[in-house]
Amino acid sequence: MDSTSIFRIDGKVAVITGASSGLGAHIAQVLAGAGAEVVLAARRKEKLDSVIAGIGASASGFQCDVTNDSDLEALVDFVVKKFGKIDICVNNAGTSDPEPAESESPEKFRSIMAVNLESVFVLSQLVGRVMLEAGEGSIVNVSSIAGLLASGQIPQASYAASKAAVINLTRELAAQWARRGVRVNAIAPGWFPSEMTQEMFGNPRGQDFIRKRCPMGRTGELAELDGALLLLSSKAGSYITGETVVIDGGWSII
Ligand SMILES: NC(=O)c1ccc[n+]([C@@H]2O[C@H](COP(=O)([O-])OP(=O)(O)OC[C@H]3O[C@@H](n4cnc5c(N)ncnc54)[C@H](OP(=O)(O)O)[C@@H]3O)[C@@H](O)[C@H]2O)c1
Repeated sequence: MDSTSIFRIDGKVAVITGASSGLGAHIAQVLAGAGAEVVLAARRKEKLDSVIAGIGASASGFQCDVTNDSDLEALVDFVVKKFGKIDICVNNAGTSDPEPAESESPEKFRSIMAVNLESVFVLSQLVGRVMLEAGEGSIVNVSSIAGLLASGQIPQASYAASKAAVINLTRELAAQWARRGVRVNAIAPGWFPSEMTQEMFGNPRGQDFIRKRCPMGRTGELAELDGALLLLSSKAGSYITGETVVIDGGWSII
């Protein structure tokens, strides 16, 4: 038997938020490539449509704002009506806007928490109900090395707090649902190319900062997320729950 077949997710239905660009678009491509029907969610329809066109018939889209609870309810209804189930949910939508803590407004802090943390709870709850009823499912949350460490040099209290909270929300949901077949895990990426990081990547000082600070001396390539993503999404990870897999070239070990 081919032992890599445990990473296949043929016939599974996966929902990916923030799939109009960056990591989310890549994650949708990878899950579709491993056999899943994928539903891509985000606000920008044109971007979603172009990612969906690149994936083909196994992809569909749903335009939504993850900070709007009724949009998330409508997303889950759409998927359940179309496929009758949800096997995998990747809570990937996220935002950041670095600013020193002494000037970051409470409104901005709350709005970043709404996207990066609150939406993860709300969608996990909605999807979790469907999965608990079915007695199986896997949720993968996208945290960050910023949820493990302070950065200081890139000041972002809201982002850091939200990404740390996602790690313990992941553990809590995992512990509550572990005996009912639903696994909840997270990935914590280091530096990867996306719209969020384009300023940093496009700037020689930014590139230099990453290269010098990262033990592997380089940024990550999107394909380097795939192993952990598929492990947590598939049968290969059937005894793993509540974990955060760090994919950062060693950034967080020093
Ligand atoms: N790139 C990295 O190095 C890195 C490292 C660690 C963690 N991450 C995490 O990876 C995730 C993806 O980020 P990225 O780097 O790929 O950045 P990105 O290219 O800016 O992607 C962010 C995605 O989130 C969506 N989004 C933002 N606000 C939303 C909202 N209110 N409702 C629905 N969708 C929303 C965006 O879609 P629309 O604008 O179309 O809605 C977009 O698809 C984030 O959670 C980020 O924190 C990234």
